[in-house]
Amino acid sequence: MKTPEGQILRRYERMDTRLFDDPGAACKEVADAIEQLILERAAEGRSAVLGLATGSTPVRLYKELIRRHKEEGLSFQNVVSFNLDEYYGLSGEHPESYRCFMEDQLFTHVDIPRENTYVPDGMVDRDAVLASCKAYEQAIVDAGGIDIQLLGIGRTGHIGFNEPGSGPGSRTRLVTLDSLTRSDAARDFLGEENVPRHAITMGVGTILEAKKICLLAWGDSKAAVIAASVEGEPTEAVPASFLQSHEECIFCVDTAAGSHLTRQRYPWLVGPIEWTPEVARKAVVWLSQKLGKPLLKLVDEDYSENGMADLLTEKGSAYKLNIKQFNIAQHTITGWPGGKPEADDSNRPERAIPSVKRSLILSPEPKDDVCSLGGTMHRLANQGHDVTVAYLTSGNLAVPDTDARRAIELIMELAREREDAGEISFAQKVEQQLDEKGAFGEDSSEIRHLKGLIRRGEARSSARLLELEPSQLRFLDLPFYEKGRYRRFQSAQADVDLMVQLLEETQPHQIFAMGLGHDPLSVPAICFQILSTALTALKDDSWMKDCRVWLYRGPGREWDVHEIDMAVPLSPDEFEFKIRGIYQHQSQRSQTPSPGAKNMRNSWTEVSELNRATAAFYDSLGLAEYEAIEGFKRWSPGLGS
Ligand code: F6R
Repeated sequence: MKTPEGQILRRYERMDTRLFDDPGAACKEVADAIEQLILERAAEGRSAVLGLATGSTPVRLYKELIRRHKEEGLSFQNVVSFNLDEYYGLSGEHPESYRCFMEDQLFTHVDIPRENTYVPDGMVDRDAVLASCKAYEQAIVDAGGIDIQLLGIGRTGHIGFNEPGSGPGSRTRLVTLDSLTRSDAARDFLGEENVPRHAITMGVGTILEAKKICLLAWGDSKAAVIAASVEGEPTEAVPASFLQSHEECIFCVDTAAGSHLTRQRYPWLVGPIEWTPEVARKAVVWLSQKLGKPLLKLVDEDYSENGMADLLTEKGSAYKLNIKQFNIAQHTITGWPGGKPEADDSNRPERAIPSVKRSLILSPEPKDDVCSLGGTMHRLANQGHDVTVAYLTSGNLAVPDTDARRAIELIMELAREREDAGEISFAQKVEQQLDEKGAFGEDSSEIRHLKGLIRRGEARSSARLLELEPSQLRFLDLPFYEKGRYRRFQSAQADVDLMVQLLEETQPHQIFAMGLGHDPLSVPAICFQILSTALTALKDDSWMKDCRVWLYRGPGREWDVHEIDMAVPLSPDEFEFKIRGIYQHQSQRSQTPSPGAKNMRNSWTEVSELNRATAAFYDSLGLAEYEAIEGFKRWSPGLGS
């Protein structure tokens, strides 16, 4: 931070923030610090006191610690741990309790003495909560205070479960969870209605007493809140921003989670930069938005007064810059996502030949496809391309029991009419399993299978509306999902093998995929990783030389306009088709289909807002005005042209 760039950076960033290309590298660094602490303390015959977090974020770090224990003999005998929080009303046996999470993800794999592991008691009586919280704080003090506190961050800006409104002096207490936090947890609990409303959490003040603090964040869904915490004024609206007052607090984030920091988003404001074509495009689009002027109306002063004088000097004039960026944006727009046959394709995102393309659409869960690229799928089908939609996971974990019950009642009724004893006993068995497991229980393999079939049916009727035949759909049911639970998935070679087989069979000219930049433990990110491993394995296949990969961002998200390489405009009618396609996913009406959307109605609104917002953005740059636009970014590591 002593360099001139460091000083400029310091003007924006109010705390020590480290960006990593990959969460693995960040976890290694944090694991080093933890190991060093444990070893130093062991040499002194003292305990190392760790403050631990749950959720997806620290899982990789815990894996690294377990590895060091198993392979390198790192002992946790002298470790005392305090977890940040626990859902109120859940016992330690509940699979979603934080006690259970810690046992699964760390404690049972290392030699930490169980009596040294503290997690707030979620089952304490209401009138004993206060005393229990005080005792928790006292136990921290008695242990000598927390040496290293690990934190994740919620999209509300919460640390622990200190939701917006929590002050810097707050202590361990019972809190009410924010509705966004509950909707983020909906999938873990198989429905938002099952998510506890309250939790016990260490306070912001308790956290700030730790000697060192390390906050971790991965994936672009955290980008906005990371920027607000690091660059904004400390405020109760973003509790993580209070960490700015701590002398020894670092944020370790991957580039996706750090993508809204000024140094990443508007690097020309932070210091001298290399004006690559990508940065120039981003900067000019930003300038046009900032000043509310179409691209072709920007003048020299606009550039020089907004930190872009060097770009202006390099390129000669605003006029030249404007035209260039206008053309780039213009050339992203195409109504022919599979390429326009017999047309000059030198300025089109897709090539004209072959005129009939094999298009492979990869949808991590049923509905990701229609929500994100329903209009494009419709166009591809209509324009005669050979489209295959592959649903990578069954999505069965997101089906509420009420839908499974309705389906099983239907099966039972039919079976009785047909006097089919086998079917009747199957239906009775599943009904009984549903009764016995209760809202929080794990689904049996029969229930999961039934729920998967419900989603298949919805995917088929949605695709039919987009003019795709059921024979064009493939259901991969990747094993990592079938065996796992949200946040605890782990892919294996069997998943890659299925993807390789799909690619070899379809030999696509274009692949539409999502998951880049998502939280690494999320279903889309795992699917993307599987795809990229499979593509690497197949890199020498001849069809790969003629294959393009188009990334869509996923439900409830869209690329920024400067990132879009192909913009597919939708007419009002096409847009209507898409919305009707989304509505076929009936079992998802009360699920959380995308960040921020709490039900089907919101999902509908969100999709329409996003696609319309992209169209409005293009319009504001001075390009044509459309009803809606779906955006794609080209991804080509080591692939052909
Ligand atoms: C967990 C905790 C929470 C999480 C946060 C992020 O103990 O206190 O603050 O760190 O909700 O969750 P993930 O990591 O699942 O995105």
